[in-house]
Amino acid sequence: MMTESAEASEFSVAQAKVRTSYDEVPYASYPYAQSHPCRIAATASLLGLTPRDVETASVLEIGCAAGGNLIPMAAAYPKARFLGIDLSSKQIDQARARAKRLGLANIEFRHQDVTSFEKSDRGYDYIICHGVYSWVSDPVRDAILGLCASTLSPDGIAYVSYNVLPGWRPRQVVRDAMLAHVADIADPAQRLSQARAFIDFLNANAPKSPYGEAIREVASWLGSMGASYVFHEFLEIDNAPCTFKDFMKAANRNGLVFLGECELRSMLPENYGAVAQTIRTLGGNDVVAAEQYIDVFSGRTFRQTLLVPAARLPAISRNVSPDRLASLHFLSSFAAVPTDDPNFPHMFKDAIGTTFKTRIDNVRRAFQLIQASQPGSSSYPQLLDQLKAAGRPLTPADQAEILKSLQTALMIGLLTASTRPIEAGRRSVERPVALEVARSDAVHGTSTVNLRHEPVELDVVARHLLPLLDGTNDAAALAASLNQAVKSETIGFVREGQRVTDDAEIEACIADHLGRVLRQLEGQAVLLPSETGAKA
Ligand SMILES: C[S@@+](CC[C@H](N)C(=O)[O-])C[C@H]1O[C@@H](n2cnc3c(N)ncnc32)[C@H](O)[C@@H]1O
Repeated sequence: MMTESAEASEFSVAQAKVRTSYDEVPYASYPYAQSHPCRIAATASLLGLTPRDVETASVLEIGCAAGGNLIPMAAAYPKARFLGIDLSSKQIDQARARAKRLGLANIEFRHQDVTSFEKSDRGYDYIICHGVYSWVSDPVRDAILGLCASTLSPDGIAYVSYNVLPGWRPRQVVRDAMLAHVADIADPAQRLSQARAFIDFLNANAPKSPYGEAIREVASWLGSMGASYVFHEFLEIDNAPCTFKDFMKAANRNGLVFLGECELRSMLPENYGAVAQTIRTLGGNDVVAAEQYIDVFSGRTFRQTLLVPAARLPAISRNVSPDRLASLHFLSSFAAVPTDDPNFPHMFKDAIGTTFKTRIDNVRRAFQLIQASQPGSSSYPQLLDQLKAAGRPLTPADQAEILKSLQTALMIGLLTASTRPIEAGRRSVERPVALEVARSDAVHGTSTVNLRHEPVELDVVARHLLPLLDGTNDAAALAASLNQAVKSETIGFVREGQRVTDDAEIEACIADHLGRVLRQLEGQAVLLPSETGAKA
């Protein structure tokens, strides 16, 4: 048997290994829209709670890496307070540097182990722990849930994501094979390249059997994933997926209860087709049991669970009534598409194929208005005002029908709810203005964030233009700056494999790329509503 001090020193050796691993191979640090307090708060209010307004909230992120998730939140909500902690000093240094460059006074980063967090530091309205829980040892997992329980405010909500069984099981087979193959290799880059090469070989030579099928599927998917993800998901010391039931047992032990999944649509049995009734029957009134069956039937690999202090349990009401939607703002990315269904002649569809059909003209118009406001948000009161302004008299029955349709679209995932509006800008203004974080990020790297808290990748032309989108430059000034960049060979255009050198052709390329980048930035919600300059 091990003594307490031997156990403690083994634990600190293991922690040091984790720290070194993230110092050596930092995790690519991105914003996660689904973990944004505005989204968490919207889900909570749909489930009957009254969460704290994000404008003045206090937010803690555990395992924040280089602050890719927390920093844009702090930039968007200057009156709210943000704290990020992480075991890796290198990532914390990167986070501090970016926050400093953006001049943020409402965010702090601490190089700290979650197991040593001061529990008297109470009162967090939102605690985010994304991509950490499954990737740490048992004591750290327990410390995460313990910290959530002891530092959440009474109305606070914790978001914890983790890998789940049984869906993760096939990936475990591939992880085990990769780990065994690189067991004697210490250098991180070598470990990664050898493990990847081995999996490619295994993929090409896996037997024609259910085992081989599972390997091929995981290996093909893995080929498209980034280096830091593969390294930390498949080669990290710890990756312990668990069943949802076991996760909830651990949460309950720590005084936390299940509020819901951050994406409500994943909780609706009807979204799982033919097994919907079976899930309802097997789950009965036990939401945790029903969710566990959803995992079994769907084979999902990942969960993003919202937890609240046990005292909030009586306030939770999972019967989402349409009136709870009235104060929320809805984001979407669907488009109207033609349909030959005579019963439902109006159809809206998003990129992953989720569809909503209606035969009611006012509902069709409401959805067209939502589409017109993309990538910004729409709310129910705004829709009513817009419809009335367009001369559409709305009876109470019409209004109820619109609200019910919004609810349906939300529950199937065609709409996403937020407690705060998102007003996106248009490229047609004379002097476009871009989000300040994006303007600054463009100078330093190839990725940034948009108004919807989603990651945005930037090409060389976008990186050149973004810092200029501060409301002082019109199209001619932007084109002139691009021309200068071409002359100084910072940017070059290539056509049919040849560098473009002819002045007239360069002018044409500049016009094309300027139009393209402004269109992209508009569609990606990177432009702000601009008060400078009339419409062009
Ligand atoms: C897989 S990364 C996820 C990072 C980030 N949350 C994301 O999703 O992009 C896990 C992070 O947890 C941090 N971490 C691991 N153990 C920790 C601990 N005991 N205390 C604080 N942070 C820890 C790591 O340094 C790393 O940055």
